[in-house]
Amino acid sequence: MKTNLNYVIRPALLKDAEQIFNLIRKHSDELIVKPIGEIVSNIDRFMVCEVEDKIRGCAAWDIIPEIGAPENASVEIQSVAVDSELRGNEAGTKLVRTIIATVKRFDPAQAIVLTFAPEFFKKLGFREVPKTSVMHKLYMGCINCTKHANPYTCPEIAMTLDLRSYTKPAKTQS
Ligand SMILES: CC(C)(COP(=O)(O)OP(=O)(O)OC[C@H]1O[C@@H](n2cnc3c(N)ncnc32)[C@H](O)[C@@H]1OP(=O)(O)O)[C@@H](O)C(=O)NCCC(=O)NCCS
Repeated sequence: MKTNLNYVIRPALLKDAEQIFNLIRKHSDELIVKPIGEIVSNIDRFMVCEVEDKIRGCAAWDIIPEIGAPENASVEIQSVAVDSELRGNEAGTKLVRTIIATVKRFDPAQAIVLTFAPEFFKKLGFREVPKTSVMHKLYMGCINCTKHANPYTCPEIAMTLDLRSYTKPAKTQS
């Protein structure tokens, strides 16, 4: 629902770590919960959405190497969440786009996401791919998942975005 709340998308600060932790935990059905120590250690890989000094959205990224071809590493988009009261105001879109703009400077081949919100990522230009095409992600993350025994039967959808030909979709330029 559109709201009149003004928000700012910005890189996370250490002081945001606890609020990020709580926001991710609030969305534990859709996201992998991260320990606060991991959030603190990787705080430079988080973007947040702030409304009146409160963290109402977050998104993070990680690098997934491509064995034998370091130049073709992927970036995984993780921990994308926006508080329910703020949804529908493009905060999610802007969080992901800000991450893409941030990682583009080191020229990764593609962005990867495993998600329960494929329509949201489709609007950002991602397309669904078979999980077998992102085996490196499955080995780095899914293999340690405590929610599902088998990544092939896990209900999350694998999606990718080619970052080398990426330009922002025309509809919601920001
Ligand atoms: C997914 C999520 C981050 C989207 O945040 P948001 O700020 O509402 O997203 P936006 O306002 O930028 O939405 C952009 C578009 O995607 C659509 N969209 C957003 N979330 C959607 C969802 N879960 N399913 C389908 N479409 C969705 C919006 O309707 C909007 O479409 P429009 O451009 O035609 O109006 C938010 O719904 C959320 O936190 N969900 C729970 C956690 C989650 O599922 N995270 C993703 C897992 S990786």
